[in-house]
Amino acid sequence: MLNFQFHNPTRIVFGADTLPELAHLVPPTARVLVLYGGASADKNGTLAQVRAALGGRVAHEFAGIEPNPSYETLMEAVAQVRREKLDFLLAVGGGSVIDGTKFVAAAARFEGEPWEIATSGGSVIEQALPFGTVLTLPATGSEMNSGSVVTRKATQAKLAFMSPLLYPQFSVLDPTLTFTLPPRQIANGVADAFVHIVEQYLTYPQGGMVQDRYAEGLLQTLLEIGPRALATPQDYDVRANLMWVATQALNGLIGAGVPQDWATHLIGHELTAQHGIDHARTLAIVLPSLLEVQREHKRDKLLQYASRVWGIEEGDEAQRIDAAIDRTRAFFERLGIDTRLSAYSLGREAIEPIVAQLEAHGMTALGERQDITPAVSRRILEGAL
Ligand code: NZQ
Ligand code: ZN
Repeated sequence: MLNFQFHNPTRIVFGADTLPELAHLVPPTARVLVLYGGASADKNGTLAQVRAALGGRVAHEFAGIEPNPSYETLMEAVAQVRREKLDFLLAVGGGSVIDGTKFVAAAARFEGEPWEIATSGGSVIEQALPFGTVLTLPATGSEMNSGSVVTRKATQAKLAFMSPLLYPQFSVLDPTLTFTLPPRQIANGVADAFVHIVEQYLTYPQGGMVQDRYAEGLLQTLLEIGPRALATPQDYDVRANLMWVATQALNGLIGAGVPQDWATHLIGHELTAQHGIDHARTLAIVLPSLLEVQREHKRDKLLQYASRVWGIEEGDEAQRIDAAIDRTRAFFERLGIDTRLSAYSLGREAIEPIVAQLEAHGMTALGERQDITPAVSRRILEGAL
C-alpha cells in the first residue's frame, strides 16, 4: 500500500426527515446564500423546508445553476455574495449545484480572474467561504469531497479543481428527497458512482487489501440496488443505500493509498463540453472501451474484478476479461444508458476534436501509469463508436 494521509472534515447528517437539522447546522448569525438549480427544489417542496429551517437568518437565494454548472452563471452568484456581504453558502441540489457552490465559495474570496481557480486545478485557492449542502441526487460524491467541475461555455472547457478548503462543513443526506428524481437521473447516479469506484480500483495490485474489498462491496451493492432503484422508486432502503454508496464512492476512503485512473472522467468531460452528453453517460461510453484498450496493463485487476465482483470463474484469462467487460457494458445498458457514441449520433468525425481538446487541456498522460497519450485516447474513442 502507498503512503497516505486521510482527512475528511465533512459532517454527514443522514436519514429521512433530517432537513430541519439545518436549523442547528448553519451558524445562527450567518448571512446565507441558498443556491439551487432549476425548478425541482422548488416544485418538490425541498426549498420551502430549507427556508423554514433557516428561520430568522438573513437568507438570500440564487436560482438557476444548470447541469454542468457554468462559470458564466456562477459569476452572477459571486457578484450577489459580494454585493450583499453574505458569508455562508448552502447548496440545495445535485452535483452541479454543489460543485457550483464550491466555485462560488472560492471565487468570492479570490483576488484576480476567478477562472484561474479552474485552470490551476485549485492550487491558487487560499481562502473560501464556508458552506453546507442538502443533497437531492445521489451520484457525484461532491457532498463529501473537496472537488468540483465547472464549465466555461464560451470556450467549451470543462475543468476539475480541488482544494482542502472546499470540503462542505456538513451535508444533509435525506434519501426521501430523491423520490422525485426522474429515472434518467437515477440511472446516471448509479453509473457515475460505479465508475468512480472502478477508477480507484481497476488499476494494478498495490497491496490495498482493505480498499479492494471495500470497493468490491460498494460495486456489488450497486449491482444489486441499481436496477431496483429504477424498478421500485419509492423503496426507502434502496434509495438510502444508493445515497450512501454514492457518497462513499468518492469521499477519498477507497482511493487512499492505491493507484487511480481518472482517464474515463477526463475524456468524458470533453464529450460533455462539446456535445452536452450527461456526465454519467459519457463514462458509460468511455469505460468499456478503455478497459478493452488497457486490458494488458490492467490484467491482474481485471481478473480480480471478474471473479470477485461478477463471479466469473469459467474460461481462460482472456475469456474471463472479455466477460467482465461485456457484463460492465450490459449493466449500463440495463440501466437504460447507451454505451456507444453512435447512439448519441456521433461518428468518427467527433473523435479528433475531442483529442485536440484533451491536448489543449494538458490531458496527455492519463491513467494510473500516465500512459494514456492522445493516441491512446483516440483508440479508446474509436473503440466506443
Ligand atoms: O436543476 P433542477 O431543476 O434542480 O434539476 C436537476 C438537474 O436537471 C435534477 N434534480 C436534482 N435533484 C432532483 C432533480 N430532479 C428531481 N428531483 C430531485 N430530487 O437532476 C438534474 C441533474 O442534476 P446534476 O446536479 O447536474 O446531476 P449530478 O448530480 O449527476 O451532477 C453532475 C455534475 O457533477 C460533476 C459532473 O461533471 C457534472 O457537472 N461531477 C462532480 C464530481 C465531484 N465534485 O466530485 C465528480 C463527478 O465525477 C462529476 O464529474
Ligand atoms: Zn463522475
